[in-house]
Amino acid sequence: MKLKFALRTTASAAVLCGAASMAMAAEVEVLHWWTSGGEAAALNVLKEDLEGKGVTWQDMPVAGGSGVEAMTVLRARVTSGNPPTAVQMLGFDIKDWAAEGFLGDLSEVADAEGWDAVVPPALQEFSRYDGKWIAAPVNVHSTNWMWINKAALDAAGGEAPETWEDLIVVLDAMKANGIVPLAHGGQAWQDGTIFDSVVLGLGADFYRTAIIEQDPEALGSEMMVEAFKRMEVLRGYFDENFSGRDWNLASAMVINGEAGMQAMGDWAKGEFVKAEQVPGEDFLCIRFPGTQGHVLFNSDQFAMFDVSDEKREAQMMMASAVMDPSFQVAFNLVKGSVPARTDIPDTEFDMCGKKGMADLAEAAANGTLQGSMAHGHGASSNIKSAIFDVVTAHLNGEYSAEEAAEELVAAVEAAK
Ligand code: GAL
Repeated sequence: MKLKFALRTTASAAVLCGAASMAMAAEVEVLHWWTSGGEAAALNVLKEDLEGKGVTWQDMPVAGGSGVEAMTVLRARVTSGNPPTAVQMLGFDIKDWAAEGFLGDLSEVADAEGWDAVVPPALQEFSRYDGKWIAAPVNVHSTNWMWINKAALDAAGGEAPETWEDLIVVLDAMKANGIVPLAHGGQAWQDGTIFDSVVLGLGADFYRTAIIEQDPEALGSEMMVEAFKRMEVLRGYFDENFSGRDWNLASAMVINGEAGMQAMGDWAKGEFVKAEQVPGEDFLCIRFPGTQGHVLFNSDQFAMFDVSDEKREAQMMMASAVMDPSFQVAFNLVKGSVPARTDIPDTEFDMCGKKGMADLAEAAANGTLQGSMAHGHGASSNIKSAIFDVVTAHLNGEYSAEEAAEELVAAVEAAK
């Protein structure tokens, strides 16, 4: 069947749905980890969009930021021969599943809709495998952001920090004002998210050689020792209950003024928006000090597992819906991310969304766009886990900065 026409016009979509419902209602089972307030609100935009097109949504949420737990559940489902139809996935995981031969081919819909011309090459790197489209990107997130309570910043001198040194001044002032300067949740992926920014803050070349290229010399360098020392400095600004806290609860501390700021990807904006906070008035979004002009990106994509023919139609409808321009606006306004298509104007986005889109375009044009290690776009899953282990152990006081740099070389080498 030619899906091209069915997917593009409402009338034929209705025919497609009609045909599908005669055989079996179009239904997608979607495995995802969007369970925080902001994430669930964004997911709802997708769910309602699909239900409006006659596709029934079967929800398979697996809580746990950055999808670590979701990927474990996915492995179990696939191993037992029962993969979900669609799965939220990040970068290298998509490529790994494709290499194992488990993913379906979305090329028919992708070619008909011209995804090639509108999805930036940095994303296509992960949405295509062996010439085929294997995933539909729903957004572009970025990890090197800070989220600041505006009133807390005003009380701390009012100047948003641009450099590492500025950051320390503001954190000290917030501490003196009796609030938690830096809201953090001690979970490996959150520690890794800060580490992404700290390494980038020491230089884009350093990030590239150490994290993307995993050059042992860079991994064990003096600069890496400095990165770990900076992690120790930041740890001094956490509250004593940081261990194990979910990221959205750390965001809530900034939202309610208990804490001054959070270093987190722009999914945090989804929490501020959900709490009806306004950027520029209630909170500020800035690049992690020292990283303006650079973007560490990750993109949530929906990979479709190779399933029976009757489920395939619904998969294609979902892929098409995800890439629809107006859907990409509606979804990303709520999610905190920016569209995965380059042909969408920033008109409807708030100041953080506009900044996210401008920063992304600038970084793509200047060669300062790099994949986030902590969110699956900078290194393979094995290497990511190896880095997380060392970063978390160091943050919890198991290693000195010098030992951590040495351990990092060994851990990454062993994971290669
Ligand atoms: C990221 C994902 C985001 C957000 C975040 C926290 O890896 O790309 O969509 O959900 O994890 O869960």
